[in-house]
Amino acid sequence: MARKVTRSIEYGGITLPALVHSEDSIQYAHQSFRVRDSDVFNLTYPKSGTTWMQEILTLIHSDGDPTLSRSIPSWERVPWLEQNTAAKYLEDRPCPRLISSHLPPSIFPESFFTSQAKAIYTIRDPRDVCVSLYYYAKMSSFLDYKEDFGEFLEMFSAGKILFGTWFDHVKSWLAYKERTNFLLLTYDELLKDLQGSVRRICQFLGKDLDASAVDSVVKNASFESMKGNKMVNYSLVPNDVMNQSISPFLRKGISGDWRNHFTSEQTAAFQCLYQEKMKDVEIKFPWDELQRKIYWES
Ligand code: A3P
Repeated sequence: MARKVTRSIEYGGITLPALVHSEDSIQYAHQSFRVRDSDVFNLTYPKSGTTWMQEILTLIHSDGDPTLSRSIPSWERVPWLEQNTAAKYLEDRPCPRLISSHLPPSIFPESFFTSQAKAIYTIRDPRDVCVSLYYYAKMSSFLDYKEDFGEFLEMFSAGKILFGTWFDHVKSWLAYKERTNFLLLTYDELLKDLQGSVRRICQFLGKDLDASAVDSVVKNASFESMKGNKMVNYSLVPNDVMNQSISPFLRKGISGDWRNHFTSEQTAAFQCLYQEKMKDVEIKFPWDELQRKIYWES
């Protein structure tokens, strides 16, 4: 494969792809954007279920009616706060605005922290994040890629990657988990019980959907349905930016694909790194294999 030439920008210690970000766009997000109490944020480290939550939030907001999610691209419905197009999509939008972001708290709009705006933070097993990112980097024109998975894993583990290290991102957002306007979800939880998760999100947002509306959210936010929806499967993006014949954007949509990619040595090394980096985090996740206590059961 020809070596890719990727361009990135640096802001607040974080590296972002220059394709859709600029110093101005991040500065706008960090310093100029005015958070409204009715805003709903979809927060993630990349490849953790951002697009899935964009679809779920759109459908909940539409009371289960898929018209909006099938007629407007996901990045316009639930735009990224830090991207060049944010002001265009968000400034005049009526409430409630649905907004995505990969930014860490250190460069998130300060007004968020004193507002009533709601935030949902979705976390995924970092090993699956790494595998998902590996294929995304392979198919996209704007991300650094290493053909050798071991080398890519080293880059990911060292945080020499866009949006910084998974560990810092997760730990810095987890600091807000006790706030009533903050909902913590895992990708695994969405996979295991999408209907229950949709009900939880509705309750958090104060949205009273009837059973058929909830069923419609679940049906239209399924992996199969999203794969067939060109407004969310990224087939609208030109091939030279995302080449889906190399790897589809909606690739496998499962948990545990890391088992098909990590060697036993890589598994052990990542486990050590994880335990060291996460030793102060009290919450247990479904992937905390040494202390298998699932946090929503504790
Ligand atoms: P895989 O590459 O493992 O398949 P993001 O939107 O944050 O970039 O995350 C993309 C990942 O979420 C991809 O993971 C994608 O397939 C998965 N995903 C998106 N929608 C999903 C759904 N409805 N069900 C399960 N996984 C989904």
